[in-house]
Amino acid sequence: MPVDIQSPSLCIGIVGTGAMGRGIAQIAAQAGIRVLLFDALHGAATNARDTVIGTLGKLADKGKISAEALAAAASKLEVVPQLDQLASAQVIVEAIVENLDVKKALFQQLEDIIGADCILATNTSSLSVTSIAAACKRPERVGGFHFFNPVPLMKIVEVIDGLVTAPWVGEALLALGRRMGHTAVRASDTPGFIVNHAGRGFVTEALRILGEGIADFREVDRIMREAAGFRMGPFELLDLTGLDVSQPVMESIYNQYYQEPRYRPSALAAQRLAGGLLGRKTGRGFYSYSNGTAEPAPATAAPTALPASVWISQASPDWADALRQVVVAAGVALETGPVPGKTALCVVTPLGTDATSACATQGLDPRRTVAIDCLLGLGKGQRRTLMTSPLTEPGMRDAARALFAADGSAVSVVRDSAGLVAQRVIACIVNIGCDIAQQRVASPGDIDRAVTLGLGYPKGPLAFGDALGAGNVLKVLEAMQDFYGDPRYRPSPWLKRRALLGVSLLTDET
Ligand code: NAI
Repeated sequence: MPVDIQSPSLCIGIVGTGAMGRGIAQIAAQAGIRVLLFDALHGAATNARDTVIGTLGKLADKGKISAEALAAAASKLEVVPQLDQLASAQVIVEAIVENLDVKKALFQQLEDIIGADCILATNTSSLSVTSIAAACKRPERVGGFHFFNPVPLMKIVEVIDGLVTAPWVGEALLALGRRMGHTAVRASDTPGFIVNHAGRGFVTEALRILGEGIADFREVDRIMREAAGFRMGPFELLDLTGLDVSQPVMESIYNQYYQEPRYRPSALAAQRLAGGLLGRKTGRGFYSYSNGTAEPAPATAAPTALPASVWISQASPDWADALRQVVVAAGVALETGPVPGKTALCVVTPLGTDATSACATQGLDPRRTVAIDCLLGLGKGQRRTLMTSPLTEPGMRDAARALFAADGSAVSVVRDSAGLVAQRVIACIVNIGCDIAQQRVASPGDIDRAVTLGLGYPKGPLAFGDALGAGNVLKVLEAMQDFYGDPRYRPSPWLKRRALLGVSLLTDET
């Protein structure tokens, strides 16, 4: 490798010292790397250096780093007033404005300044690394080095190989990311790379659920947090990021993949963006905020009247056993016959289907039928999701809610939906993760590492699929595709093959 990344005298140049450039400068300096800072705006690089030293000073005050570490890192940061003073750098990291023509012009200028083996890395999050490299005389030394905001806390960096990037360049950037204390993953140059590509499932499917009137945004958030284990619900996330940022990303990735239905954005979000309901930054998004806090939901009293008797569908025998235990523990009479009695509450356990279809295929009375999502488990304390058919009587719905809340568990009730709420959102996340693996954008392990660190999901998409059973996820998607007739839900070949072979979704080709 022409560049020794581990060398104590390694020197990198950072061009563009805004939010990202200064974050990268901080972790590089903390790793003992000499950092030359350049910004086109007069005074910006000095300001960035002072800010980084201030941040490190606060860490030292809190005892998180030693006074020696602070002094050592500060001594590594050097402002250069002219671009040509970056000549001694072995790696240049560009973090300027997200504009293809401006980045191309900068890289052409840099090529006339830097040494023959200097790496040119771009922190772009949405532009093609290959396109930026195409402007260069030596495109093989150009690679993507995509950090996340705020850089010191988001301990992941995507290293992107453009179409003609030399393999050693990617290796060197991986080593540099690791030297800076980050997890470095490698991806090919595709729209959204790994993290912004993998993030398409969570929010777009949640918007679709909202758009179909299945549940309101609060209920979807509660289910995704308290049943599926996400730190934040999709609508809380949209409000935090702001629709002015999220909607263009959704549209850009959808269009860069030539209207791939899996990434289809929502008209509902476009309208809210036009209406200025951006999220926290405007005081109103899906939630309303006062003093930065979301207004609480109006309290509703949970029903307590239990059903007289319950009949549980045998369509999924494992889940039927777990459900029986809940019913018995609540002290409710359990019917054990092959068909329900005339007044029993009928409970079905769909996988990718809706309550209506369960009634039709099992010959059940839709007025007395309620579905429950068992895929994520029925653990005490975990939120449970119930779903009605269009004809379920309110009394039966309330009795079911009282029954499944009897042990203290929180219960959500949603309208009829193929795949309920959590099943369909997670199935979309797993499917997109599988397709990223299928397209060889990154290795299965890197996909899961990037998603857990970059998006904060409880599991990577492939591990999530394994935990729920690849076969179950496949059934959810096939049932949804069948119900909606929408290619959005067509299963990825990666998922299909591994489900058929009965192996982990993390299994790479031999
Ligand atoms: P920023 O606006 O905070 O900083 C950009 C800096 O670059 C400014 O200080 C500006 O004066 C300077 N600059 C602009 N044109 C220049 C030029 N031709 N030569 C030298 N300096 C120039 O932007 P931010 O947020 O730091 O983003 C930088 C890059 O990182 C963009 O490509 C962006 O897409 C990418 N990125 C941003 C993330 C974010 O959350 N902010 C996350 C990941 C990547």
